[in-house]
Amino acid sequence: MKKIIIALLSVSGISLLLTGCGGIEADLVTRPADVSAFSSEDQDLVALGKQYWSDPSLSSSGALSCNTCHMNNAAFKDTFKNSYPHFVQMTKAKSGFEEVDAEQMVQFCLVAPMKTDPLPWDSKKLAALAAYTEHLQKAYAESR
Ligand code: HEC
Repeated sequence: MKKIIIALLSVSGISLLLTGCGGIEADLVTRPADVSAFSSEDQDLVALGKQYWSDPSLSSSGALSCNTCHMNNAAFKDTFKNSYPHFVQMTKAKSGFEEVDAEQMVQFCLVAPMKTDPLPWDSKKLAALAAYTEHLQKAYAESR
């Protein structure tokens, strides 16, 4: 009995560690193995992603878009110079990821700073925002 209680306590302790302090469940921002990404011409996705990047209907409040925080590369740290996947301080601190790819970063900013649900993993919107993120990352690396 004692052992069971100790086991239960340590499991809840671990989940507290993961979700406490504004933590984000890693599963929420990890592509399920059985769902493929939407695919289309990269150019089309980048153009569409650019529109969504400034769309405040993406946030739960309807007041924030990606561009609110990231206009002219604002809020990007030095790690954004590296091609994906790469280490990002915020996703390490909140979910324990050693590295993330572009679509995970999109999902992460939706769930954490924008306080909304992640996009469906097979959605055109996610593919578009991820493609635009990759595009921004390359331009950012070239500008440094
Ligand atoms: C309320 C502010 C806020 C909003 C809104 C926001 N983000 Fe972020 N985002 C951040 C912060 C803070 C970081 C820096 C994280 C770090 O580097 O530790 C960041 C980092 C990033 C990065 C770069 C991380 C890297 O180094 O690779 C990408 C890409 C990104 N956000 C995409 C998005 C997208 C897409 C949206 C819209 C869906 C969005 N963000 C909305 C705050 C925000």
